[in-house]
Amino acid sequence: MKVLIVDDDLISLRKLEWLVKSLGHETITAQNGEEAWQIWKDQGPRMLITDWIMPKVSGPSLCEKIRNSEGRQYTYIIIVTTKRNTHDLIEAINAGADNFISKPYSKEELSAKITSGQRIVDLESRDMIIFAISKLAESRDVETGNHLERIRYYSKILAQHLHKKQKYDGQVDHSFIDNIFLTSPLHDIGKIGIPDHILLKPDRLDDEEFAIMKTHTIIGHETLIATANKDLKADYLKMSASIALSHHEKYDGSGYPHGLKGEEIPLPARIVALADVYDALVSKRVYKTSYPHDISKSIILKGNKTHFDPTIVEAFLACEDQFIEVSNLYKDH
Ligand SMILES: [Fe+2]
Ligand SMILES: [Fe+2]
Repeated sequence: MKVLIVDDDLISLRKLEWLVKSLGHETITAQNGEEAWQIWKDQGPRMLITDWIMPKVSGPSLCEKIRNSEGRQYTYIIIVTTKRNTHDLIEAINAGADNFISKPYSKEELSAKITSGQRIVDLESRDMIIFAISKLAESRDVETGNHLERIRYYSKILAQHLHKKQKYDGQVDHSFIDNIFLTSPLHDIGKIGIPDHILLKPDRLDDEEFAIMKTHTIIGHETLIATANKDLKADYLKMSASIALSHHEKYDGSGYPHGLKGEEIPLPARIVALADVYDALVSKRVYKTSYPHDISKSIILKGNKTHFDPTIVEAFLACEDQFIEVSNLYKDH
């Protein structure tokens, strides 16, 4: 990991640099806030360890500057300080610091703080890689634009609503919500394995072609479950595999690939099924124009208990306004 270290005191700076290097990280150093700010803009280090008190730009103001101009990539910030009172620490957290280390500190303490920061940075990289893979699969498809962004928000909104229901106690918790947000964009990853003349065919697919098209669910599942089996602790991979396999199942058993019925269909797949169909309805596709929310809603309602789980439809009705908001916010141009 690339770590930017800032301290106006050269001895402290060299000591810190030596320690961070000895922990196996690449370092860049700066002797004041301004120089650090330039380096941060040019090189985008994933971690910043900064002194608090420095002339001109202090540690907290450097944090603030970074937080105000951060794009998608997060910089984990540790402030080195002799200050210990709560008021000061709150000020630094408000400015955007993630962690503190008080002088004098030991190598072990520094190492622990860097490791906890690295965990966060790694999680973010994981999330970006998952999204990049989804995008790559989608780039061959006709459903492009912001479909993946919208689907992850619709799914999250539905899951957040179910979280409030007693029925889903213990099943829909915060990690379920995070996982569905993370993995719903992978639902069609199996389309990578579908030949172009079928995937991109502008006309209706014949029976044989449709049978091949349906296998995107199995292909996606096989790919993701193979990865999930390599890391048994990664719940999100198991969830992504079940979504890929079952997002075309229907509540009455008439869907594919296995004709699962009702609650035999994994809950995340029942959620993504509604999110995916709603998005197809309100978006323009090669074979159809975009429908307004009210028409799309009436089509969803027609599918209540046949295509969709009634509990999910109920959640959709309760969160309509949020759906409209997301579809406007991530409109395709
Ligand atoms: Fe699909
Ligand atoms: Fe989709």
